[in-house]
Amino acid sequence: MSAGLASDTAHLTARARAADAVVEPARRLLDDQFAHLFVTEPPPPATPREAITRLTALDTAHGGFLAEILLRQRYFEEVLTRAAGTGVNQVVLLGAGYDSTALRRRDLTGVRFFEVDHPSTQRAKVAVLERAGTATAPVTYVPVDFEAGHPLDQVLAAAGFDTSRSCVVGWLGVSFFLRPESFRRALADLARTCAPGSTVVYDYMDASVVDGTSPYPGALAMARQVGERGEPYRNGLTAETASRAAEQAGFTLLEHLRVPDLVRRYGGQDPYCRDDDFMGVVAVERA
Ligand SMILES: C[S@@+](CC[C@H](N)C(=O)[O-])C[C@H]1O[C@@H](n2cnc3c(N)ncnc32)[C@H](O)[C@@H]1O
Repeated sequence: MSAGLASDTAHLTARARAADAVVEPARRLLDDQFAHLFVTEPPPPATPREAITRLTALDTAHGGFLAEILLRQRYFEEVLTRAAGTGVNQVVLLGAGYDSTALRRRDLTGVRFFEVDHPSTQRAKVAVLERAGTATAPVTYVPVDFEAGHPLDQVLAAAGFDTSRSCVVGWLGVSFFLRPESFRRALADLARTCAPGSTVVYDYMDASVVDGTSPYPGALAMARQVGERGEPYRNGLTAETASRAAEQAGFTLLEHLRVPDLVRRYGGQDPYCRDDDFMGVVAVERA
């Protein structure tokens, strides 16, 4: 990330969520009615038609991203709802960015959120929330640079997280920005953070996008763009290595979905997004 600046890619994903929230209700892929709080330029679309026009432009240039950004979140929230129903009351969002789950899910009574993020992005988020004055579920903000090597389990415990109780972890849109060794270290830290029965949901980018050999030009174009704007992709995985990395850290695979699987599951009869297949979402359980 560029020194001292909030994550540009966190703003990009918030923009996609804010536009989706303006699409006609039956076609929304996520329905995040708080994403607009975090969007600066350009302002969110004003009408469903304008929303579809903008989203289609993004989707035409970079097919598959929109579906992944919106539907990984939809999937995570299903996992979260199920876990909360069984009494899990700690949620960790790693690289939370402008995630609004704590704003939207105030129905999850007794659930505490721990939002872990780069200090620059987190500062920007907290400033927006303070200005908006909107209530959230209980949140503890934990500023951390994943590249700095601070053990996540210790950092979270110091912030009041109870490592003896199970949790749900969402780690969305982050793994590909980390150095491969930081990604593996974070997984090992998570294995110490998560009590048995905990669930971790994370997504990954195909190695072929990171090394420039992907058959998807829109994915390669996005890789160039984010690199030029200070957030290069550094960690590419494959369907096999993405789950193996977690298994090696002590987790058991629950589910592995590629973007076409997500679109089939949540996209409805007439999804407004493409399903180019270069990213995936993995759910694992602490054994
Ligand atoms: C693409 S955004 C994803 C944000 C959010 N999870 C979402 O799905 O919209 C990437 C996030 O990773 C965070 N991030 C990137 N590198 C990081 C690092 N070295 N340490 C901590 N956070 C980092 C950024 O601050 C940002 O919030």
